[in-house]
Amino acid sequence: MSAHNGWLRANALFSLAVVALSVIAACASFTDRFTQCQPRSSIPTLSEPKISIVSHDKIVRRKDGSDELHVTLDIDYDLSHCATWNTRAVHAQVTIGYETERRLSNEATVWDRTATTKQDMRVSGRFPGKYGVRTVDEGISGRAVELKLRWAVLPRSGKMWRGVQSVWNSTIPAMEEENPDLEPGQRRMIKQTRTPGMP
Ligand SMILES: *[C@@H]1O[C@H](CO)[C@@H](O)[C@H](O)[C@H]1NC(C)=O
Repeated sequence: MSAHNGWLRANALFSLAVVALSVIAACASFTDRFTQCQPRSSIPTLSEPKISIVSHDKIVRRKDGSDELHVTLDIDYDLSHCATWNTRAVHAQVTIGYETERRLSNEATVWDRTATTKQDMRVSGRFPGKYGVRTVDEGISGRAVELKLRWAVLPRSGKMWRGVQSVWNSTIPAMEEENPDLEPGQRRMIKQTRTPGMP
């Protein structure tokens, strides 16, 4: 075999490898394009995911009018069908959004999970919020809020894609009683809200 032939063959093998790689990459993005998905309930007989606030564990108003809020959530979703052989992780986030006079849209994350196994992509139960909500200068108590489930599918190769679904609308209870342990003007409220049908 001449040096020239060897070179040609190496070149041909290289081109073949490049073609194979682009086919794999194309398959990966092709698969992903057709697996963009909506979350479901973790209960097979229900279709929609369900997320709600089951208790407002702490609401504190500061002197400047801002609030700190801690909640417990009831979470039920299944994103496991969003994962394919090309999925590295599925990230889910529960956000609380509300409007104030100064800012039309405020959004804070109260809970999240990054899952790499199908089992962890299915979530069902009560969870204390991982993150408290701290408003900037306007309170959240007494306001209408919307919970959203946001998810992101992180692939091994190709583009990450995201989705969002509104899951709950409610109102945060208004401040009720003055707390003697706090400085004047600061109010604190501890109140358990009950969801109809829940214990
Ligand atoms: C919550 O309210 C918003 C705005 O009215 C609406 O777009 C959304 O669908 C509602 N979400 C649910 C779960 O009902």
